Amino acid sequence: MVSRVIPVDVFDLVIFGGTGDLARRKILPGLYRRYVAGQMPADSRIIGAARADLSEADYRAQVAEAIAEFVPKDRQDKTAIQGFLDRLHYVAIDATGTNGWSALKGLMRDSVVRAFYFSVAPSLFGDIAQRLSEHGIADAWSRIVVEKPFGRDLASAKALNAVLAKHFNETQIYRIDHYLGKETVQNLMAVRFANILFEPLWKAEYIDHVQITVAETVGVDGRGAYYDKSGAMRDMVQNHLMQLLCLIAMEPPYHFDPDAVRDEKLKVIRALKPVPSEDIVRGQYGAGGGDKGYVAHSENPASRTESYIALKVHVSNWRWQGVPFYLRTGKRLRARASEIAITFKQPPHAIFDDAKGWHENVLVIRLQPNEGMNLMVMIKEPGPGGMRLMQVPLDMSFADAITDGEDVPDAYERLIMDVIRGNQTLFMRGDEVEAAWAWTDPIIQGWELRGDKPQTYDPGSSGPEDALMLMHRDGRRWREIR
Ligand code: BG6
Repeated sequence: MVSRVIPVDVFDLVIFGGTGDLARRKILPGLYRRYVAGQMPADSRIIGAARADLSEADYRAQVAEAIAEFVPKDRQDKTAIQGFLDRLHYVAIDATGTNGWSALKGLMRDSVVRAFYFSVAPSLFGDIAQRLSEHGIADAWSRIVVEKPFGRDLASAKALNAVLAKHFNETQIYRIDHYLGKETVQNLMAVRFANILFEPLWKAEYIDHVQITVAETVGVDGRGAYYDKSGAMRDMVQNHLMQLLCLIAMEPPYHFDPDAVRDEKLKVIRALKPVPSEDIVRGQYGAGGGDKGYVAHSENPASRTESYIALKVHVSNWRWQGVPFYLRTGKRLRARASEIAITFKQPPHAIFDDAKGWHENVLVIRLQPNEGMNLMVMIKEPGPGGMRLMQVPLDMSFADAITDGEDVPDAYERLIMDVIRGNQTLFMRGDEVEAAWAWTDPIIQGWELRGDKPQTYDPGSSGPEDALMLMHRDGRRWREIR
């Protein structure tokens, strides 16, 4: 099946930090792919803005290099690349000073969508927002896109929200969590709310527990300075895993509408119980497999920052009473594997004697790689010899169903196009981010006060030993990371 390309309005997209790492790796290659897909109307422009004193030609050359490096070879087409580069402009700008702002204003056009991507350190958000409005560059229809980390605790997130609110309405602010742009993550909502099959069972009466795993093989290489001040809890749980949890746990919104969806997610975050220390396991990878270990990437040889975390979380409402959500994420693990697994309860009464062959139903939603869903069901083992049971997967591989050799847009491409369309459904609202920090802060403060050290784990393993115990003591097991 070939997906439909939905047209968008003509736009000017200004990327602050247009020469930075995220712009090179994700934003510009993503925009090139949308251009190739026919989703960048003629006359739309991308304006890189950064401190470096570059000419337009220099900037285009830099972007050409980024495309060569980060777009798969079979998607690189000379004519298309040239067509895309022709849409690019560049302004040298000083985010905290006066240089470049009049030039940027001079480039702006009326009657097109104006979007400003803040791909810069959060400490510059306020300066840029202020200058955009002072110079009359942003108008009431303009949109701004802000990247994570959105604060490092509740106080700093509130301060960022307040700074942006001075110049923009909430309907103009697009806080990106790129997990919400992933195909399977959105599919999770389709599966839950476009089928009658799952929703009646989607509650404590029928669900035993939920596991959410985001395992990575990469380490913190090159990002040590940022990561050491962050750790897995701030870098992954407060945002990405929290968003996944919300989509699983939320009530059906009355409509697939930005505020209806975000209202329901917010209720979930507010219903999260505080997590006691015995339900948290933190780990840090040691040396091995050619890596000198986490601390070698940090400026602090005695760093206690976690590169792995596992937590048992409860959503305190009627639907989820007593159902644990086990979350885990870590770097330098055995495999890159992200999935959500929903394990159902046993049938109320067993009529078959084959207790050994029996397993619970599990719905596995696989985010990456090999996106898809698997529903593990029990059937009779074929052949004579009585009623023996076996578990088989009902396999729904999205790759087979949707790609057909065609390119599925990556998270950034989809989210940027949503900004141009003015659709905030897949972006975090200010109150949602604050609620997420309000739950996260005491957890982090707890281990800081106690002076907890993370447990060392081997690179290439499934994480620290203690994480196994977190499930074992409840009579459950983590699914294998593969
Ligand atoms: C980012 C984190 O937000 O997400 C990184 O800062 C992490 O540490 C990345 O590696 C994971 O994203 P993905 O899309 O590769 O799963």
